[in-house]
This record gives sequence, structure tokens and C-alpha cells, in this order.
Amino acid sequence: MILTVTLNPAVDKTYRTGELFPGRVNRMRSVDNIPGGKGINVSKILRQYDYEVTATGFLGGYQGRWMEDQLDRLKIRSAFVQVDGETRTSMNIVADNGYVTEILEPGPHISDTQLKEFMQKFASLAEESGLVILSGSAAPGIPTDIYARLIRSASSMGKQVILDTSGELLKEGVKAAPSVVKPNRKELEYIIGRRLQDMNDIKDASSVLLSDGVGLVIVSLGDKGLLLAGKGRCLYARVPRVTALNTVGCGDSVVASLAMSMTSGADIEEMLRKAAAVSAANATTLESGNVPLKLAEEILRDIHIEEI
Ligand SMILES: Nc1ncnc2c1ncn2[C@@H]1O[C@H](COP(=O)(O)OP(=O)(O)OP(=O)(O)O)[C@@H](O)[C@H]1O
Ligand SMILES: [Mg+2]
Repeated sequence: MILTVTLNPAVDKTYRTGELFPGRVNRMRSVDNIPGGKGINVSKILRQYDYEVTATGFLGGYQGRWMEDQLDRLKIRSAFVQVDGETRTSMNIVADNGYVTEILEPGPHISDTQLKEFMQKFASLAEESGLVILSGSAAPGIPTDIYARLIRSASSMGKQVILDTSGELLKEGVKAAPSVVKPNRKELEYIIGRRLQDMNDIKDASSVLLSDGVGLVIVSLGDKGLLLAGKGRCLYARVPRVTALNTVGCGDSVVASLAMSMTSGADIEEMLRKAAAVSAANATTLESGNVPLKLAEEILRDIHIEEI
């Protein structure tokens, strides 16, 4: 079983309209609701490939119950700590004129008692899991060393951990030496504290994380592909040109693919090739957390790996 952690899940609402006017009444043509949040997206992709997944984190209120119901339908086991507030909504307003407006709520506040309850729940869930995935931002009230603490807890049980987050959560998290970390270029720049100019620069920055004890560093570079840095080896995967419809959440598909390769014991070259194919395929669909499986298979044959 794979355990995913989503500390601040969201009901992702996508509205469609002709044009959005600030300061006026805007009537939407349609609305779609899907369960979201990075860890939940990863869980959805793992389910597409028939992996057994448990999702944990915090849920609250009516929207929290709706999320559990949706996860149930997707056969994702939900094991969340219940909080007093309401699980947040993330609004995406897609206008025919090409503008996409996002409105993101902060999420419910997490109390010290709820945090304590979560730490205990996490420990028992991690114990029965083969791999742990920590993805995304945290709700208000959660300390920035949360991922560092979760990594130490899982590592002490001999579990592998993948970390995919940003800002201070990431900077603190890498200090606890996760098995795998997946920053994009900006996130890696944030950890290192300087701009990264070229591939060699990215390779050197990744080496710093390796020498701090991180097992593997996979840097996602948007349509430029992926770089993987491990002890003594650095590989680069170019991705083929695809018609990208929505690249939000492509990072989640990289993480899901890495997790699958880790549980099957694939070598790093295979791991990188699959991650590049699954994420490029993911870019071609509108919904995040949804991989067109056949296309991913086809793209896999076109992925070339270079040693750098
Ligand atoms: N336009 C694209 N064409 C082909 N592949 C893409 C494209 N955009 C992204 N990808 C694939 O998806 C991977 C992850 O994308 P990206 O680097 O944008 O992740 P991210 O910034 O973490 O995104 P998010 O956090 O929104 O999930 C890339 O490394 C690449 O393999
Ligand atoms: Mg990302």
C-alpha cells in the first residue's frame, strides 16, 4: 500500500464563462467539482494504475464529507483527521477569451490537538505502508517543519519517502533526508538560494542535496523534461513535443510514476523514462490527476535518456 499525505486538500471547482468582469455580477455557464490537492492528485493517478492507496491529512465540514465520498468512489481509502473548519475550495475560472483566473482559499486552521492526532495517525498508517508520499502546501497553523518530522518518523520505520512541496516546507523537509525529492526549477532555486542558469548549474545544485543525505533528486523542468541526480550519476530526459492543454499537476504525475517505479524496484534510468512519459501524457489532458494511459505507453518509446 502507498500512503499519500495532503495537508490542505481542496474541492477543485472549474467554472466556464465568456469573459470575467471584476466588480460586476458574473454568471457562469458551467461548473465542475473534483477532489483536489496535490497528494489527492497523486492518489488518483496511482489508482488509474491499480495501486492500493490510502490518503491522509485533514478534512472538515460538508466539503470534507463530499471529498471522502468522492475518494470512496475512486477506491482510495481515506484516513483523514477531522477538523472544525470547512475544507477549502479552489476556484478556476476559465474564460473563452483565454484568461484563467484562480481563487484559492487558505483552508481551515489546524489546532495543536489536531496536529498531534495527525502525527499519531500518520505513524500508524506509515507502519502499514510500503512507501510514503508528502505533497503540496500546508493549512494555516501547521509548522514549517511538519514534513521534516513526518520524514523522520517514516524513515525510523525504514519506509521510503517522496517529498514534493515548495518554500519553507521544502527547505526544512530536505534537511530530514527524504529518499526522493522532486522540486521544479524554481523550488530548487529556493532551497539553494540563487538563480540556476543552465543544466550544469541544476546538476550542481542537486548534488548539494545529495551530499546532505537526500537519496535521489528529480528536477522537473516543464516542457524541457526531467533531470535525475543520484549518487555518482546524473541523467536527463527530454520530453517529446505534445499538445499541452493543462500542465498544472504535471508534477503530481511525475511523483506518482516515481512511486510506482520505486515499489517495483526499477533502475533509475527506467524510473526517469517512465516519469517523463507519464507526465508528458498528463499535460495533454484538461483534468489534473488524470493520465491517458495508452498515450503514456506510446510516448515511453520516444523518451531518450542522456548521461550528463
Ligand atoms: N508542455 C509540456 N510538454 C511535455 N511535457 C511536459 C510539459 N509540461 C510539463 N511536462 C512534464 O511534466 C513534468 C512536470 O512538470 P513541471 O515541471 O511543470 O512540474 P511542476 O512545476 O511541479 O508542476 P505542478 O506543481 O503544477 O504539478 C515535466 O518535467 C515534464 O516531464
Ligand atoms: Mg510541483
